[in-house]
Amino acid sequence: MKVISDIVALREARRRWQIEGRAIGFVPTMGNLHHGHLHLVRKAREAADIVVVSIFVNPLQFGPDEDLAAYPRTLKHDLAALESLGVDVVFTPSVEDIYPRGLEQQTFVEVPGISYMICGASRPGHFRGVATIVCKLFNMVQPNHAFFGEKDYQQLQVIKAMVTDLSMNLKVHGVQTVREADGLAMSSRNNYLTTEERETAPALYRNLREIADAIQLGRRDFSRLIQEHKQKLLDAGFKPDYIEIRAADSLLHPSHEEVQLVVLMAAFLGRARLIDNIRVELK
Ligand code: PAJ
Repeated sequence: MKVISDIVALREARRRWQIEGRAIGFVPTMGNLHHGHLHLVRKAREAADIVVVSIFVNPLQFGPDEDLAAYPRTLKHDLAALESLGVDVVFTPSVEDIYPRGLEQQTFVEVPGISYMICGASRPGHFRGVATIVCKLFNMVQPNHAFFGEKDYQQLQVIKAMVTDLSMNLKVHGVQTVREADGLAMSSRNNYLTTEERETAPALYRNLREIADAIQLGRRDFSRLIQEHKQKLLDAGFKPDYIEIRAADSLLHPSHEEVQLVVLMAAFLGRARLIDNIRVELK
């Protein structure tokens, strides 16, 4: 496994793989890797000849009051985990190399509509930061396949829209959310939870399941259902940010005929902002 932080060296490696006709699978991450990330890496390993993983904590996608400085950085541990999975290259660029003209001068990729709703409404500029860095990383790595977790469901839809709109020549794969045994979706931000909060945290997924089950059983009074579960989250000790029931592809409010739904949730628990989602297919 090679660790490359220099963009020129990465491009040189990319050129050689091109000549050898190898398919490249790419997993962008911000590091502090857990089993969720590693599952994406395994999927990439299955689909491609060469696997590239990037580790870059992207300042452009953090709001001014968010956890950029506190975001956990565990490079040594990350590299050991990636080595054991047979990754070919770990790309670890510096902020200066990625944003040589500074964040203020950066050209942006904006995916309108889908970027402004749900998480985007709570975190203005977040998806612009995500789309911009992912576009830049795609330009550097030039992958044939890229892997994103369904855990960040809206992010996955933003990336798919960007790839379609900008005619990018790669396939985007969505990968199922990896959970702890008690249902909590794995996340680097779970590190922020105290022992007590960690015991409360699985209630987020339990509420998602309850909403999904209620819809399956025929409930269609979505605003009431959402209100009830916001209250349940409050009672459990969360500060709910949003609960949304949307059309799975467009993330718009669903029509009565919609059969593919997604329930999305974000809530603060202590210092951590936790997000999760669940798909609901109506017969
Ligand atoms: P990060 O939070 O490090 O996540 C990297 C990838 O791992 C994302 O595609 C995310 O959806 C996926 N992932 C995280 N937790 C997961 C879980 N429990 N199960 C399955 N997949 C999971 O998402 C980002 O970084 C950044 O926004 C990035 C795309 C790298 C751009 O900076």
